[in-house]
Amino acid sequence: NIYFNDEAYHVLNSYLVNQKFDPKNVFILVDNLTYKHCFPIILSHVNFLNKSHVIKIRTGEKEKNIYTCIKICKLLEKLKATRNSLIINVGGGVITDLGGFVSSIFKRGIRFINIPTTLLGMVDASIGYKTGVNLDYIKNEIGTFHIPELLIIDPFFLNTLSRTEIISGMAEMFKHGLIANKDFWIDMNKFKLEMAENKNICNDLIKKSIFIKNKIVTKDPKEKGLRKILNFGHTIGHALESYFMNKKEKILHGMAIASGMIYESWISHKINDLSMIDYEEIESSLSSFYPKKYVLSDLDVEKLFIIMEHDKKNEKNKIQFSLIKRIGECSYNYEVPFSLIKESLLK
Ligand SMILES: NC(=O)c1ccc[n+]([C@@H]2O[C@H](COP(=O)([O-])OP(=O)(O)OC[C@H]3O[C@@H](n4cnc5c(N)ncnc54)[C@H](O)[C@@H]3O)[C@@H](O)[C@H]2O)c1
Ligand SMILES: [Zn+2]
Repeated sequence: NIYFNDEAYHVLNSYLVNQKFDPKNVFILVDNLTYKHCFPIILSHVNFLNKSHVIKIRTGEKEKNIYTCIKICKLLEKLKATRNSLIINVGGGVITDLGGFVSSIFKRGIRFINIPTTLLGMVDASIGYKTGVNLDYIKNEIGTFHIPELLIIDPFFLNTLSRTEIISGMAEMFKHGLIANKDFWIDMNKFKLEMAENKNICNDLIKKSIFIKNKIVTKDPKEKGLRKILNFGHTIGHALESYFMNKKEKILHGMAIASGMIYESWISHKINDLSMIDYEEIESSLSSFYPKKYVLSDLDVEKLFIIMEHDKKNEKNKIQFSLIKRIGECSYNYEVPFSLIKESLLK
């Protein structure tokens, strides 16, 4: 149910008509910025939605919490939403996670559609049925699996997104190459500069990246095994992201994950047979595109380790890693000694 560009809007129009929706029974969730930049584009393609309700929240990760969900539920109730209502999420990962979660709990679950408008949203957050909100500082602690009716991908939205957000989203695309498809890794490296500068060139890369993630999550929707390979770079990456969240110098998710992939490639080299040649290729490609803005001390490493110990992905209190064997192949459930994690971080 993933559709691209103009075809996507045709499918959406037919879906709304075929399902006999009353426009007043359709609720469009946006944030300030997607209301301004993306909602008018959608209306220009899907006239039907002119009479639908718009629910607008403030932009930003801070809004991704249970209190915003309650506010949205109350508003849905006030606007007489029923079990047959439809929510259309128009935004980045914050909106698709939040709107997907509300859809999964409101009246025990209603239908929803995702229209991701950030690169990270298109290639990652909106793919794979995970919805959720943060609990204080713990990311995605409350959530569900809920399948959207349709996923509409229109890279045109990227024209108003900042270059930093594009580069951050690209980290997940590099990851898709590293864990599952060497050719895609090569393509990403070939076109990375063009993609960062000229957003329209990336249609084809976005499609390929979505297919890679979608294939993995379709095989293992509930993350019992294979899906864990998508966590490559994220054990250390998430710790960096959380650690720097409280510092002056915040780092975007993709930037943290790019560093995480370099560190975890070193660990892969040490205990998972990743060749030195592959390691050096990954290190030089990612560090040139994602220059590090921090230097870690011994004390930082201790603190990062404490954060990793609280990672949701852990099993039996052991920190879990997904590691690559070669570019394009990844496996999961590795326990890595602290000394090696430290070595990778301070190298
Ligand atoms: N469910 C999953 O599997 C999954 C996977 C990865 C990430 N996530 C979640 O995704 C979230 C991050 O997503 P994100 O990076 O898209 O952040 P985001 O939703 O906060 O969007 C980033 C910023 O871009 C703005 N924006 C969105 N589209 C725009 C456009 N077209 N033009 C101009 N501005 C625009 C937003 O208002 C926001 O300020 C995190 O909460 C993360 O936990 C979920
Ligand atoms: Zn990620």
